This record gives sequence, C-alpha cells and structure tokens, in this order.
Amino acid sequence: MTQVIASNIPTFVRHPKLIAWVEQIAALTQPDRIEWVDGSEEENQRLLDLMVSTGMMTKLNEEKRPGSYLALSSPSDVARVEERTYICSETKEDAGSTNNWAAPAEMRETLNGLFAGSMRGRTMYVVPFSMGPLGSHIAHIGIELTDSPYVVVNMRIMARMGKEVYDVLGTDGEYVPCVHSVGAPLADGQEDVKWPCNDTKYIVHYPETREIWSFGSGYGGNALLGKKCLALRIASAMGRDQGWLAEHMLILGLTSPRGDKHYVAAAFPSACGKTNFAMLIPPAGFEGWKIETVGDDIAWLKPGADGRLYAINPEAGFFGVAPGTSEKTNPNCLATLYKNVIYTNVAQTADGDVWWEGLSKEAPANLTDWKGEAWTPEKGTPAAHPNSRFTVAASQCPSIDADWENPVGVPISAFIFGGRRADTVPLVTEAFDWVDGVYKAATMGSETTAAAVGQQGVVRRDPFAMLPFCGYNMGDYFQHWLNIGEKLQAATAASGEKMPKIFNVNWFRRDANGDFVWPGFGQNTRVLEWIIDRCEGRIHAEETPMGFVPAYEDLNWTGTNFSREEFDLVAAQDHDQWVTELESHEELFAKIGTHLPQVLRDRKAQLVAALHKAKQEASA
Ligand code: OXD
Ligand code: MN
Repeated sequence: MTQVIASNIPTFVRHPKLIAWVEQIAALTQPDRIEWVDGSEEENQRLLDLMVSTGMMTKLNEEKRPGSYLALSSPSDVARVEERTYICSETKEDAGSTNNWAAPAEMRETLNGLFAGSMRGRTMYVVPFSMGPLGSHIAHIGIELTDSPYVVVNMRIMARMGKEVYDVLGTDGEYVPCVHSVGAPLADGQEDVKWPCNDTKYIVHYPETREIWSFGSGYGGNALLGKKCLALRIASAMGRDQGWLAEHMLILGLTSPRGDKHYVAAAFPSACGKTNFAMLIPPAGFEGWKIETVGDDIAWLKPGADGRLYAINPEAGFFGVAPGTSEKTNPNCLATLYKNVIYTNVAQTADGDVWWEGLSKEAPANLTDWKGEAWTPEKGTPAAHPNSRFTVAASQCPSIDADWENPVGVPISAFIFGGRRADTVPLVTEAFDWVDGVYKAATMGSETTAAAVGQQGVVRRDPFAMLPFCGYNMGDYFQHWLNIGEKLQAATAASGEKMPKIFNVNWFRRDANGDFVWPGFGQNTRVLEWIIDRCEGRIHAEETPMGFVPAYEDLNWTGTNFSREEFDLVAAQDHDQWVTELESHEELFAKIGTHLPQVLRDRKAQLVAALHKAKQEASA
C-alpha cells in the first residue's frame, strides 16, 4: 500500500504529517487505489460519469436539468442516525447526557476493527476542504478520506474543496482529520451495489483531538463530514475553547426601503423551513424591501473589535430538503436549482426530470419513486423520500448576499429561535434580556421531523436547535452562551454598539381544525420588520410574562387581509399551557443535571412567578 501512495502523491501536497496519516489510514482500510482529489471540473465529471456507469447516479435530462444527477440511496440509509452518533470526549461528563458517549480508547478499538479492510476493492479519495472562505481567519480546514465518490462530488459543492486548500495548509498547517467509509468492502470480482452502506453505523467525534470517524452510511449528514460533524460538533467544541459560537443557524440580510441593512441569524430544528426562511421573498406590500441570503444551515460567529458579533457561513452550498419546495414556498430556491444539482432520493419523471411532493399540486404521470419503483398516487407512499435532498452551490442562489463570502463576516443584529409548535408558543416574542433569551433558546421545543431517523411529530426539547449537533456538555454550552453575552455586554457598552436581541418565533401554530393559521413563507417578512424595528428601538411592544410581543397594530399588514381574529389565534398565550410548558422544562434540566447554570434555574422560577402574578391580576 505504501508504494501505491508514495508513487502518486501530487506535488501540490507538501505536508509530511498529512501524507503519513493518509498512509496510516490506507494501511488500515486497504483501498485498491488512492486518489488525491484536486477539485477540478474534469475530475468532477469523471467521478459523475463513473457513478452513472455503476448505477449509483442517473444523469437527468440535460435540457431540463443541465449538469444534474439523481442518486437513490439504500432505503436503510436516508437520514442522520442520532442513536449512532457519538461524542467521545475523554470524560463522559464532557459529552454530557444529551450525547452518546464511549471511552475514546474503547471506541478507537471498535472502529479499528470496523475500518480494517473496509475500503477493499474501492478507491480512497483524499478530499481537502475549507469550511469558510479559503484563508479567512474564521475558516477551518479539514481533510476527508472517503471511499465514496458520491461524498467527493457533494463535498465539492458544500465546501471550498480542491487543491488550493493545500496552499493554505502549507507544510505544517492544522486540519481536522475526517475518515469515512461506507463499510462495504468488495471481494475480488464481486459486483458492487448501487448504494453501498453497512447496517452497522458509527458517526464518531473526538472533540479534544478534533477528529471525525464515520462508518457505514453514505447519507449527507453522516458522510459529508465538513457539515454537521466538523462545522457543528467539532467547531462547537473549538468555539467553547476559543470564545466563539458554531451554531445551527441560517443567516440573512434584510434591507428596508430606507436603505438600512440588518443581518439576523436564526436557529430552527432540521426540516422546519430554514432554507425557505433564508431565501424568502418579501410579500406584496413590501415593495422596496430586500432579503438576501448568507447561509441556510450553519453560522460561525465571532466577537469583533467593535463588540458586535460577526457571522460567516462556513459552507459553500445548500444541502436542502426537497419536499415542500415550490414556486410558491421558495421561488429563489427553485431558481437556484436550475443546473449542476445533485438530487438524492427524489422521484424521477419519465422524461428525466425530478419531482417531489409539493413541487406541483398534481404528480406527473409515470413517476419512478425514490426506491426506483413505478409510482402512482394510489401507491399510498410518498414518491420522494420526506428527507430527500438537493445539493447545490450557494453562488447559484439569486438572493445570495454580496457579502456571503466576506472573510470578516456580517454583523448580527438579532437572533431568532423557532420551533414547530401546534400550540402554546406565539408567533413572535422578544426576550427581556440576554439571559432570558438564553433560557428560551435552551428550552426550545419542536415537533420531530424526517431529517432524523425516529418517531415524527412528537415535541422534544431541542436547545438552540443544537440537540443533535452540540459537541460537548449541553449545560456547558448554555454557560458558554451566557459568557459570550457578558463579553458582548461589556464590549458594546464600551463601543456604543448595540447588543444583539433575542427573539422566539413559531410559524406552525394550528387552529381547532388542525390547520396552520400563519401563512408563513414570504409573510414572515412582517415579523422580521418588527424584529428589526425592536432592535432599533422604534416600535411598540406589549409586555407579557413570557416576553415582549407585538399588538396587531404593531405589525405591518400592507398587502394582506390577515385579520385581527387570525392574529389573535397565532399570538394567543394561554396561562395554563405556559405553566405546563415551563414545568416540562424540568425534564431537560434534570437530564442536564449539575452542569445546568443556576441562572437558568432562577430564570425559570421568575417566569413561573410572573405567570402566576399575571393570572392573579387578571382575575382580581
Ligand atoms: C440538515 C439537518 O441536513 O439539520 O441540515 O438535518
Ligand atoms: Mn440542519
């Protein structure tokens, strides 16, 4: 094996430690070949053609979907596997009770067993990538070793991938080593399957040594290791140590007709419309307003010299949920998908186009579903998997922000946290202060979706939408947010800049018939305007026990006939529901245990007391 590597190391790789590591992993996994990926167009096309020849990908109709491909996964490999995801810190306590943990030495032994020979019969690709603009002081480099060409072509879209990364790395630069195998070695002459994977899956992170090992899955969130694994789990641990934040947040810029521009960062659990929100088009009545997209999934935020928080999107592409994306819900996204897209697990039309539930009202005739079977609505199952995805370059998005690759980042005026809640949580609330905002983000609940394997539609606590992505003890993560708040407070007091405000939203309130009341999508601009006006201190709000809220008159209703009665439904706050909600936070607190910051316990007691006082006053 050593010979194979030594003979084909390209001249652009000048990093002895990295070469030694590649040799070490190759000796363990025993691939037939090693390819040092350079990120070129020619290489990309060769890999796509290769996957078409093995049946892993289908080329779509060149006229309808230029440069685009469809991959259908194994039915057992369609989402992130949280049960199989581990944070292997030195101590269990550092991983905390919301993460799976195993002792690093034990896990290394298990993985060494699984990876031994796991790439036999396959090519190991050496994939260099930068999360964040190449060379930015906020960016971090990773090298992923993978036996999946699907991963290579997706990583090329999702990160700054290619040989330029080695220029930044030089001879001794730091990188996060990422090892990935689909875990399906091939014996001599054995025919490959379309989507190799293994029933045994492990997605493992070592936060202290900043390493990632992923086995058995080819699905994006488990296999594109720059995304959830590096940019969230490992980066959150880096952020804790270095005083910054790695968050599951979109970033958007809102420009008013007056020309003033504000950026907000917003956290929602997976499959709650983050991509739609990031690209929304202001509704009728908001002529002159502009919304621009910096990122749709992940934000890295660092305090700047002026005391403000500056955010970058570490990714270069969107790995978005296809179902529900339509001309109505997200026209910018559809326009982004015009060429060079990799689709995974959507349905295919007879003429080589793609389709998913929600793309059009009626399904076209003669569809092939995500399992590769003939499909008609009578089949009773979705044609596209509910977690089917598109992978596409962010640069193709019509609403992409001019500063989306600014290495300095964009200044954040407000944080928005949103769950999917049929009741209890109103359309929008502004936290009283940073600590109150941290409490509410920490105790955020949301109904589960198809983005992760498991039961759907049940409310689970998803602190900061980071439950599956926090690479260390969740209680310490809350404390880190509190610490950042204190730092920002001091720095902004000194500089005269404003602290970011914190808001909670809920687009998913339902009426007695179970129907959504808030129209959402572009209409969310109305809420955004109020949020920015609050940040600028130029609009009224009512104080309630759970935060500041707009009255009907405080939102801009130009261009809609959304009525006061409908607003009352989405804005309703029920005392008893809130008390039950707050009491249910105890379960999370108990789970987090001794690492839960005392100020959050205190905050809960204050909120309950305020609710009771308000009830007494109302009945007096
Ligand atoms: C995603 C997720 O893929 O959150 O973005 O699951
Ligand atoms: Mn996500």
